[in-house]
Amino acid sequence: MCGIVGATSNRNVVPILLEGLKRLEYRGYDSAGIGIIKGETIHSWKATGKVKELEACIAAAPDTAQTGIAHTRWATHGKPLKHNAHPHRSDRLAVVHNGIIENHSGLRKKLKEQGYEFNSDTDTEVIAHLLASHYRKSEDLLVALRNTLNQLRGAYAIGVIHEDQPEMLYCARQGSPLVIGVGSEEHFIASDPLALLQVTDTFVYLEEGDHAVISPCGIKQWDASNNPKQVNSQRYEHAEHSMEKGEYRHYMLKEIHEQPAALRDTLTGLFTEDRVLTAILGPEAEKRLHEVQNIHIVACGTSYHAGLVARYWIEDIAGLACNVEIASEFRYRRVAVPANTLLVCISQSGETADTLAALRHARHEGYLATLAICNVPGSSLAREADWRLLTKAGPEIGVASTKAFTTQLAALLWLSAALAQTHGAPPEITGEIVRALHGLPSQVEQALQQDAEIQRLAERFANKQHTLFLGRGPLYPIAMEGALKLKEISYIHAEAYAAGELKHGPLALVDESMPVVSVAPNCQLLEKLKSNLEEVRARGGQLINFACETADMQDQDGITHIHMPWVNSCIAPILYTLPLQLLSYYVALVKGTDVDKPRNLAKSVTVE
Ligand code: F6R
Repeated sequence: MCGIVGATSNRNVVPILLEGLKRLEYRGYDSAGIGIIKGETIHSWKATGKVKELEACIAAAPDTAQTGIAHTRWATHGKPLKHNAHPHRSDRLAVVHNGIIENHSGLRKKLKEQGYEFNSDTDTEVIAHLLASHYRKSEDLLVALRNTLNQLRGAYAIGVIHEDQPEMLYCARQGSPLVIGVGSEEHFIASDPLALLQVTDTFVYLEEGDHAVISPCGIKQWDASNNPKQVNSQRYEHAEHSMEKGEYRHYMLKEIHEQPAALRDTLTGLFTEDRVLTAILGPEAEKRLHEVQNIHIVACGTSYHAGLVARYWIEDIAGLACNVEIASEFRYRRVAVPANTLLVCISQSGETADTLAALRHARHEGYLATLAICNVPGSSLAREADWRLLTKAGPEIGVASTKAFTTQLAALLWLSAALAQTHGAPPEITGEIVRALHGLPSQVEQALQQDAEIQRLAERFANKQHTLFLGRGPLYPIAMEGALKLKEISYIHAEAYAAGELKHGPLALVDESMPVVSVAPNCQLLEKLKSNLEEVRARGGQLINFACETADMQDQDGITHIHMPWVNSCIAPILYTLPLQLLSYYVALVKGTDVDKPRNLAKSVTVE
């Protein structure tokens, strides 16, 4: 979604704002803008397209300033046109905003009646004029900000500068993330710490309803009831991870190849040689996990697919009932919560609006406890859940989630084993999982060596418009994930089916022009899957099958098998994800799409 950066310093902040915008570009990227205070006048530049277009505008008429705000936009209200890019101006102030103001049309009408002219189609411009109208009355920007916030409904993170206070930057958060970066005689704001890692690794995480004023020499922070708050800063834990692409052509490819290390880091400290360690969830964890009788999992997109795999594991390994639901559905319905149910929210970013809302909705539903499985330590989800299990994938920049997904799966397999162990499962069962997880990073390294073979296969998709993905058991959600990856970065329509469902309808789509991708580890469902694949072959479908080397499947007319190393079936969903990630990556290259920033998508979906 949109990204905000702001800075107030004794040095020129324009390069800091531009660099911050580039680092935030992965969140949204249809237009960008910067507003700075030069002397006592606000100057702004806006451009459609990528941040480099904005950079070119600034290079044509360079300027310096010590205070400024900047924004990269992912259009919600109003097309991605220059006049809709932020910052938005009113009187002597400028505003950048991330989120959606739900009551903007009512406010717009009232402001127009007061004589304010609107120059954009955005909801954000309402904030600028509201602030200006309150400032005209109070002549106090803090009061004006509070009065404005009281009138806004919806989600926002905002940054405000005013010509009357050239060193000050005002900000507020409700429903959309915002952090304050702490420097030496300089302070910053951003939607994501990643935007500011070039200038600081210390952050203040604003809570819901907080607002703050920063200047080079200080930070003042208040809660939603305007009570002053102690300013608590924390060091960013991922600071040592590189944000550069290095030798890789795209972030996505880099992130695919980072998976062995990401898995190693995520699993460190979670096991002994053959037992699960639960202390990571706190001293009471062993006892509380023992009380759990049901699990509800809530997430969106790729993280939802991780939850679907976990259902197979939790029911099979721990013998506990598990429900998995899309967060945007869960948050708006009355949920029947059986006694002793654990709610698990999965999110790479920890800022996905629907997942966060689901967690908040669940507070009143009588859950035993809530657990966030999350990749961003300081995120709202990680801070608001009772327990957090952090994946250590490092920053994920490519819009298509890769290493975050496989580390979520590893964390969920750990959770399944932890629940089994605390419910008295025989040590052989948990021991087998623990040993499989110990060997996982090196098996992932091995699976990644198929890169070149998969790249050749991708050529076959050059003129395709539709693809089917098939899997069975816990590999069915992996087929869903493979289909999602392909559609989001190559724009080929892809659908996943549990292979047994094929003859109940989708088989009608299969002919010689339809590629069908399947995942076939050597598990108990293999023979059933083989029959399903024959159904496809008999209709002339072109099958690409990722199969275990021990599965006794050879290439025949219409079927290409890519042999995968043998793995314990419990980690097969993690391993079989890799060739599907590589396939979608190379198909996207063949199609010539923007792999890291696919059209219409944003990395962190902070609005509903
Ligand atoms: C797809 C993808 C999305 C995210 C979804 C949830 O590749 O990345 O489907 O998985 O938007 O995001 P998080 O995990 O940050 O809650």
